[in-house]
Amino acid sequence: MNNVAVTGSGVFTPRQVITNDELVAAFNAYADRRNAEGADPSIPHSSSEFIRSASGIEQRFVLDKSGVLDPDRMYPRLPARPDDAPSQMAEMAVAAATDALAQAGVDAGAVDAVICAASNHERAYPAIAIEIQELLGTGGFGFDMNVACSSATFGIQAAADMIRAGSIERALVVNPEICSAHLEWRDRDCHFIFGDVCTALVLEREDLAGGDRFLIESTRCATQFSNNIRNNDGFLRRTRDAMDDRRDMQFMQNGRKVFKEVLPMVASHIADHMAAEGWQADDLKRMWLHQANKSMNDFIGRKVLGRVPTPEEQPNILQDYANTSSAGSIIAFAQHSADLQPGDRGLICSFGAGYSVGSVLLTRV
Ligand code: COA
Repeated sequence: MNNVAVTGSGVFTPRQVITNDELVAAFNAYADRRNAEGADPSIPHSSSEFIRSASGIEQRFVLDKSGVLDPDRMYPRLPARPDDAPSQMAEMAVAAATDALAQAGVDAGAVDAVICAASNHERAYPAIAIEIQELLGTGGFGFDMNVACSSATFGIQAAADMIRAGSIERALVVNPEICSAHLEWRDRDCHFIFGDVCTALVLEREDLAGGDRFLIESTRCATQFSNNIRNNDGFLRRTRDAMDDRRDMQFMQNGRKVFKEVLPMVASHIADHMAAEGWQADDLKRMWLHQANKSMNDFIGRKVLGRVPTPEEQPNILQDYANTSSAGSIIAFAQHSADLQPGDRGLICSFGAGYSVGSVLLTRV
């Protein structure tokens, strides 16, 4: 079996920002209009204080804020592109991947596989990953995959397994997340949750890697079916005569149940994974956790370390980016890993719809 290392990371961050105050002003204007039209039941106002205290989120980056903040619309405007122009997701992925490849010092042509792992894909086919392959000039093959918020860690395991087994030498795992397009911005319970971003990682056979790197010691994925995070949109929509504007065509969740059920699943998943590899809590220098909710991360951090982690040990980026689905833990890794020293150990862990949880144990080489 070959050893596998993460040798580069990249983050594409959209230029437009929506603060909690801007978001709440738009939502409340929408609610006032609906209520004036006689909405039954009436729609209560949202509040910035609630959002910050319930989630830790202060702002989010989006591809288009004008549509989201228009009380007559409440979703982004992303104009259709001709088939011979780069798709939105491929464009984001190329930006993030270009930075990751530069950091790794790897030419695109030396990459054997592109995995586009994300919660949603903007079309059914051809795979976005194959378009990214074409735009970057990578070799081999590409494919799309979706395990919702755990897509990145499941993609890392898929790529690492191929490199371990020898079918490929280098892979790009990219996570273009346009969460603003599947968020229901008209639902007070969740309108603050998501933002847009794209992350990319370069994975290489370790003996081919030249510079700074993180050795992938072990990966572990697990799933358990639940309807508590669900989106019913899909290719059967037309056959069901369901083309109208329906709530279940966007992200839906039972947040309290997610909290109660996912946290123990994640805590025991991490504990079992570390125990299987002989890792103690004290061995962990850093946790790059999924970025959905600050309280969730605080809970998991405490469970894993047996004490309250310092902000250095468990960096959060959700205050700036909100929940960016599969990309969150990878943003945290990309932005908070350069200071680790050879021998330092860290854990990437993502979790979410499915339910799904994926963990990656890494050592700085
Ligand atoms: N502004 C003001 N009040 C709000 C509000 C808003 N935007 N949204 C909800 N409230 C109210 C609710 O109506 C409720 O009022 P009540 O007590 O009078 O009924 C109260 O605030 C608490 O609502 P609740 O939904 O129970 O809040 P919460 O503390 O559970 O936090 C989430 C909500 C979504 C932040 C939280 O459940 C969560 O993060 N869950 C997991 C999310 C997650 O990881 N999902 C995975 C997605 S990939």
